[in-house]
This record gives sequence, structure tokens and C-alpha cells, in this order.
Amino acid sequence: MKFSVKSESPENQCSACIIVGVFEQCHLSLAAQQVDRISGNYISSLLNHEDLKGKLGETLLLYNVPSLLSKRVLLVGCGKKSDLDQYQYKKIIQKMIQKLNKIGSKEAICFLTDLSVKKQNTYWKIRQAIETIQDNLYSFEKFKTTIPKFSHRLGRLEFNVLNSNELVEAEKAMTHALAIASGIKASKDLGNMPPNIANPTYLSSQALKMASKYDNIITTIISENEMKELGMAAYLAVGYGSKNESSMSIIEYKGNPNAKAKPIVLVGKGLTFDSGGISLKPSEKMDEMKYDMCGAASVFGTMKALARLDLPINVVAILAGCENMPSSDAYRPGDILTTMSGQTVEVLNTDAEGRLVLCDVLTYVQRFDPDCIIDIATLTGACVIALGHHVSALMSNHHPLACELISASEQANDQVWQLPILNDYQEQIKSKFADIANIGDRSAGAITAACFLSRFTKKYHWAHIDIAGTAWKSKGSTGRPVSMLVQFLLNRSKAVNKK
Ligand code: BES
Ligand code: MN
Ligand code: ZN
Repeated sequence: MKFSVKSESPENQCSACIIVGVFEQCHLSLAAQQVDRISGNYISSLLNHEDLKGKLGETLLLYNVPSLLSKRVLLVGCGKKSDLDQYQYKKIIQKMIQKLNKIGSKEAICFLTDLSVKKQNTYWKIRQAIETIQDNLYSFEKFKTTIPKFSHRLGRLEFNVLNSNELVEAEKAMTHALAIASGIKASKDLGNMPPNIANPTYLSSQALKMASKYDNIITTIISENEMKELGMAAYLAVGYGSKNESSMSIIEYKGNPNAKAKPIVLVGKGLTFDSGGISLKPSEKMDEMKYDMCGAASVFGTMKALARLDLPINVVAILAGCENMPSSDAYRPGDILTTMSGQTVEVLNTDAEGRLVLCDVLTYVQRFDPDCIIDIATLTGACVIALGHHVSALMSNHHPLACELISASEQANDQVWQLPILNDYQEQIKSKFADIANIGDRSAGAITAACFLSRFTKKYHWAHIDIAGTAWKSKGSTGRPVSMLVQFLLNRSKAVNKK
């Protein structure tokens, strides 16, 4: 799909379709008012006859509107004018793209950027629209041997802005959105891959491929042997049950004019399949545990967007690839592992494997002298119980970092919600025989998992994002939280420019 921006009035447009918004109670958007005027009140007469009520998401396609050069006009209901917020705007764009695909117009011009959305500007509206459209058009068909009949015929969409002095911001929004959308697609593609193909080595091969494609990226792979030398016994223990070797990818991006500037470190849980190991999971929905690498996939997608945006910051990303399987080589409940940090961990459940992989990576990344570390992981079922599927959980040992991430998530419409990791919870992961146990009791599972990680991140600013509820839905991988992470990096880049 090709996108572009321009600033013209609807009457001069000769397109296959132009899209304008109408509100409830016969309120017309600015562009709809213009179309109405040119066409001798054609639109308002329709509203008066209640052919369209302006309800949120309602659509009406008009042909041959009097005096208009464009062939079709698509009216999209925008609900109550005073209610229009970012969620409703997203719904409006979704309905628009679904309808456009049904109509089969090759091109269209969207005037919905003239809607006033609470607290949001033109930049936001265009960026959100492009991200939403690309999200809607995504499908994963690599493994279908018959080509699906439905093909998206819309090939070109232009966004119209009210004033030509908004064009610079509009172009910027488009550039950002396209980079983010390509990161989200890369993340979804990786997440949706079947686990027999997408094993830890495959993750690493993708990371290497990225480095060969982008000049500003360098990838290094750490093999099981190297991990052994580094003392990453907890990470390794999780992968021992599988004949697919663990593999850790390090993707380095250097964009800061000061090459020595401390990097932002992103760590992604990359369990390419989590059977639970000896503490085997029930078989129902076990297929979904192919998504247990979505943290790594989101980090991968974020790096792709970053490479395209060429931002003036330094970032190190880790894909912690591993497979958790039961076998006679597998680690067991009762095992005591000495982590890379020197702290010992008693394994009480081999299904709490993510934290064991992550704890060694969190120790390993200290060598980069990070400005901050953010890990992203499908870490706990408890997170899904606590927060459901709409927001990711955020936990951090540094309040300003948490605030930065929360505002990035709001800007990107990719929400997180903070949970507390107060010291009181640390009691729950006491072990009888080692320094720490790898599980707590049944209460506050998302928090005790974060408490476990916090034992390995005391030396730096750290945030943990649990995406167990948001990384996939029934249709497949969502690519979350790429949008939020790239927003965070964009915000950090602005701060560099100001210095
Ligand atoms: N990958 C799972 C978490 C998960 C479960 C994510 C379901 C999304 C949906 C993780 O490795 C896991 O199994 N966690 C256990 C921890 C427990 C044993 C303390 C869980 O949440 O049940
Ligand atoms: Mn598990
Ligand atoms: Zn897992």
C-alpha cells in the first residue's frame, strides 16, 4: 500500500473515492461540509432522511454525488462530536479500511484527518491511521498452499490535511508510521512462525539477516558453548531438554554522534516453544506457546523500525532464544542453579523458565554499561488474569523510566499499566535451600516474577514489560509493544537533539 499526504479541498479532487466523516445529530466534518456545499446539500439531505445516523463506525457509500469530480464518496460515522477520542478514531479508521477493501477502489483520498480528536494533532492522526490500516491489512499466508481469493485492491491512499503548513508534520508522521508498521509486521511474522521452523537458531539467523540488510546494525551470536564459558547456567538449564540449542542474538545499533554514549538495552524473551518442561503444561492451547518468543519478536521489530528511522541514539537488543522441553536431559524441579550473577536459584517449577533465561541475560548486558534496560516477555499467565488482553504490565525499579514508558505507551496508543514491585513481595520467592526460588505462591504471580528479575538488575535503571496478555490474540501475533518501544526511542532521540 502506498501512502501520501497533500493539502487540497475535496471539490478539486478527482479520485476513485473520497472519504469524509459525519457525526451524530447531523453534524458534518469540515470536508463533509464542503462536499455538502458543492453538491447542493446532498449530504445533509441524506442525514435528514436518516439514511445515515452518524453512529460510530457506520458507513455509507455514495456514487455520482452532484458536481463532484470524484466517482465515489464514502461517508464514515464518527459518533458524537464531543466524544471523539483516540479509541473512537481508531475504530473509525478500521471501519474505513474494511469498507474500502470491500468496494475495491484502487485509490482513495482520506479527509478524516480533519476530525478533531481529543488531545491529538495532525501528526498523531496520520500516524495512527497508517499504523491501524497496516495492522488491518496484515495476513500470514506463508504456509497456505492455495492462494487466498481475497486480495486487497486498494493500492494507494492519500491523506489530506487542512493547511499546507501541516504538510511537514504530516510527512514526518507518515515516515514514522511506515517504519513502525514495518517493525510490527516483522514482529508478527516472526511470532506467527511455527515452532518446528522458528527455533532458537532461526531467531539468530533472522538477527544476522537484519545486520546484512542494514548498515547501521551489527549482530553477534552467542552459542551454548560461549554461554557455558560466561557462566549462564540458568539460561542453559532451560534449554538442555531440547535438542534445539539455545542461541542468544545481540543486535547493536549505533546512531548517537557520540559513539560512547550509553546504550538503551532491550531484552526479549525468546522461548520458541514453552512446553513447560518436566512441569509439563496441559495440552489444551499448548500450541499457543509458540508465541512465547514474542518478547524477542517485538525487540526484533523495534530494531528494524529503528534501523529504518536512523535515530541518533545507541541501542543494544538481545533476543534470548531457547526452547523448553521435557527429556532426560531436561532440568528438574528441585535443581539448584548457579546464575551468572553468582546467586543460586532453586527450581520449583520448570514452567517458570522465562525468568531463568532472562536473569542471566540481565546480568550479561551489564558489560554494555547501559543507560537503562527494558525487558519484554510473555512471562506470566498471572499477568493475563490481572490485566486481561488490552494492556501490557509494566514494572520498574526507577520511577522516571516508568513514567517515560507510560507516556510513550499513551502517545503510541499501545497501553501499559504499572504494577508495584514493593519489597513486601520479595518474601514470596524465598527458598529453603538456595538464595531465591523460581516461583512464589499463587498470589501476585506477575509481580513475584518481576521481583525475581529485580534481584539481577539492582545496579541499573530497569523496566520489565509483561506482554503475556497482549502479544497475541486468536488471529495471531499482534506485534505489541513495538509501537510503544519505538515511541520511547523517538522521545529519547529528541532529548539527544536538545543536548
Ligand atoms: N510463557 C508462560 C507464561 C504464559 C502463560 C504466557 C500463558 C501467556 C499465556 C511462562 O513461561 C509460564 O509458564 N509461567 C508460569 C509461571 C508459574 C509456573 C509460576 C505461569 O504463568 O503459569
Ligand atoms: Mn513456562
Ligand atoms: Zn514461557
